[in-house]
Amino acid sequence: MNTDKVQIFDTTLRDGEQVPGCKLGTEQKLIIAERLELLGVDVIEAGFPISSPGDFRSVSEIGKLIKKDITICGLTRAVKKDIEVAAEALKFAKKPRIHTGIGTSDSHIKYKFNSSKETIIEKAVAAVTYAKTFVEDVEFFAEDAGRTDNEFLAQICEALIKVGVTVLNIPDTTGYCLPEEYGAKIKYLKENVTGIHKVTLSCHCHNDLGLATANSIAGVVNGARQIECTINGIGERAGNTSLEEVVMILRQHPSLGLDTGINSKLLYDTSQMVSQKMGMDVQANKAIIGANAFAHSSGIHQDGVIKNRETYEIIDPSDVGVEESSIVLTARSGRAALAYRAKLVGYDLTKLQLDIAYQEFLKYADIKKEVKDVDIHGIITNSNITVQQA
Ligand code: KIV
Ligand code: ZN
Repeated sequence: MNTDKVQIFDTTLRDGEQVPGCKLGTEQKLIIAERLELLGVDVIEAGFPISSPGDFRSVSEIGKLIKKDITICGLTRAVKKDIEVAAEALKFAKKPRIHTGIGTSDSHIKYKFNSSKETIIEKAVAAVTYAKTFVEDVEFFAEDAGRTDNEFLAQICEALIKVGVTVLNIPDTTGYCLPEEYGAKIKYLKENVTGIHKVTLSCHCHNDLGLATANSIAGVVNGARQIECTINGIGERAGNTSLEEVVMILRQHPSLGLDTGINSKLLYDTSQMVSQKMGMDVQANKAIIGANAFAHSSGIHQDGVIKNRETYEIIDPSDVGVEESSIVLTARSGRAALAYRAKLVGYDLTKLQLDIAYQEFLKYADIKKEVKDVDIHGIITNSNITVQQA
């Protein structure tokens, strides 16, 4: 089966950085950009150059720093001055891209712009045409495309293809769409826009209903070939599509015939690095890179994992850079887990010894949230058993 490549457009340094309290300085952005290069992303959205002198500098310095074949992108509104400033910030980048756009939903047109559909198309066409005078690669975002009617979206896409747009970004800005709905939107554009084969369709999904990842996957299954995402899924409000999730979904489901160029073994370290730099903890139960993603605490699961890891794990932890799965000892753990962890710290228990030690363990476990390795020594001593050292 042929595998199609899905481009990974990382917007940790732009949409991700919009999280309150997570603003980064240029030096920190440069360190993260270097790590994204190593990770294998295709596009780095480095910032919104007109928004502040600091962001201008970050985009410019990242453009100088990144030597590999990675596109460096700067965001603009559909405004001439924004586009000029972005072009200036991107002038050192080996592969520059201007990402311009405007709101296209009825609510944006009416309340944000007090405008009409015709004027919005004119502004979009003017912005892309102007951006093309600076760079070859121009991406357009139809803000709130998730709530934009498909016919109008198709109309605007077609007009932009005529003036040479290279990527059409279909953001579900408010995280409103259901996966079937978002997938159908991409399918509709593929089937109804003349010239759509000349451009890349891009998914940019927000997580307000917890559907950002599902929507992005629905998008690529229906023909989009770029996903806009962030490390740890950070971003405005409930965040963006999480990079590590979409990468591993495509990798774990080869039958989809889609893959990315990401070195998944760097996912955990990259997640930790971004979390530290942004001062934003990763939730423990976060898929792929959360502290509990490969931790097993209930007796039934522990027994299964000790016998064969794949009983309860669909990903080999080493594939995402996590050293190994962990067996966490709690009051819900069984004998198999205690025997396993006791062996790791040096006690090879017979069946009888395990029965005795397990009763002592339960007393500890009822008091403590988690029984640690140091506690195991106490449990063995208090059990009054003589154990052969493993
Ligand atoms: O969510 C959104 O619509 C955006 C655009 C600026 C691309 O972030
Ligand atoms: Zn966004």
